Amino acid sequence: MILSATNQNRLDTFWDYCLEHQYFNIGYPESADFDYSTLYRFFNFSLNNCGDWQESSNYALNSFDFEKEVMKYYADLFQIPFKESWGYVTNGGTEGNMFGCYLARELFPNATLYYSKETHYSVVKIAKLLRMKSCIIECLDNGEIDTDDLIQKIEGNKDRNPIIFANIGTTMSGAVDNIKAIKQRLKQIGIERQDFYLHADAALSGMILPFVDNPQPFSFADGVDSICLSGHKMIGSPIPCGIVVAKRVNVDRISVDVDYISARDQTISGSRNGHSVLMMWAAINSRSSQQWQQRIQHCLQMAQYAVDKFQAAGVPAWRNPNSITVVFPCPSEEVWRKHHLAVSEPNAHLITTAHHKDTQKIDILITDVIADQQDVITDQQTTPKRFAYS
Ligand SMILES: Cc1ncc(COP(=O)(O)O)c(C=O)c1O
Repeated sequence: MILSATNQNRLDTFWDYCLEHQYFNIGYPESADFDYSTLYRFFNFSLNNCGDWQESSNYALNSFDFEKEVMKYYADLFQIPFKESWGYVTNGGTEGNMFGCYLARELFPNATLYYSKETHYSVVKIAKLLRMKSCIIECLDNGEIDTDDLIQKIEGNKDRNPIIFANIGTTMSGAVDNIKAIKQRLKQIGIERQDFYLHADAALSGMILPFVDNPQPFSFADGVDSICLSGHKMIGSPIPCGIVVAKRVNVDRISVDVDYISARDQTISGSRNGHSVLMMWAAINSRSSQQWQQRIQHCLQMAQYAVDKFQAAGVPAWRNPNSITVVFPCPSEEVWRKHHLAVSEPNAHLITTAHHKDTQKIDILITDVIADQQDVITDQQTTPKRFAYS
């Protein structure tokens, strides 16, 4: 590829910018400590995984064999027999959520989608695109769904086939909806297991809970019908991607034969990224289960370190069990912009992703937040609510 000197210069400048900011991230869950250089040579090929990896496609340059192994790994991780599952490598968590909701809507075409206030913003878009009725549910203080409100609303709607969109780790506080309680309460009101659909949005925590000692219920064994995660979060990837796993019986319902590719299709996209499949394959094969556990333990310990340090300075920070998301009162705009924090008034959060090998960045942020809090306390007359913590 030949570029003009000006354009080459632009790229060089952007390269320097990327190097400088490579590990900037403390406010979002993307891990930056990946190395896929062994795969670079495959960028010489136009890999395309359109269709179903379990079929042979007329498009020869696909990485289906690798995708099959990725899906076998995730079937095991999410506790469903491989033969009873089907899933694929997506463009990200949002596509996985859409796939889960699509399967649910095909199963229960007139049903309502129930999701909590703390659900990722993309669910609203998904409900609109799929033209699904939806109902927003209140949350408890820690960000998990209020099961009482959920059941009341399902009963109020006289809904016999609710579709539950459960958060297995909310965006802002890493809260996990209690799917065990949800199932029990649905049974108490006469809604049996086959009469509802439960999708689990495990964008970040889908790669945490399988590796901790006391996970909250999250898997097929716990009663989900589909689950997805983002590949660029805990795993880490230069290209956004994700994994979705569902029950094969539900996927078969949406599968269609496509003569153009001489294959079956049951995915949301047409052309699919064959390179991110290789990345997910390389990622799961480059660490043993014990190494994943260590990686996740490290992140959890860093999160607890941050909570302790904040609290020692009088800042009421907290985190949910098994979460690497540390919630604290939203600092001034100057501080959250400086550290690229995600904010949702009245709170902000930091996320102890795996590229934080030591506490350096966390310490700098905490020092700024504490200094900021002292400014606010001094200036309480004009900004009384900034640290009003709920
Ligand atoms: C809980 C949750 N669900 C879904 C998503 C969307 O995932 P993606 O950005 O991979 O599409 C996010 C992203 O932050 C998230 O936090």
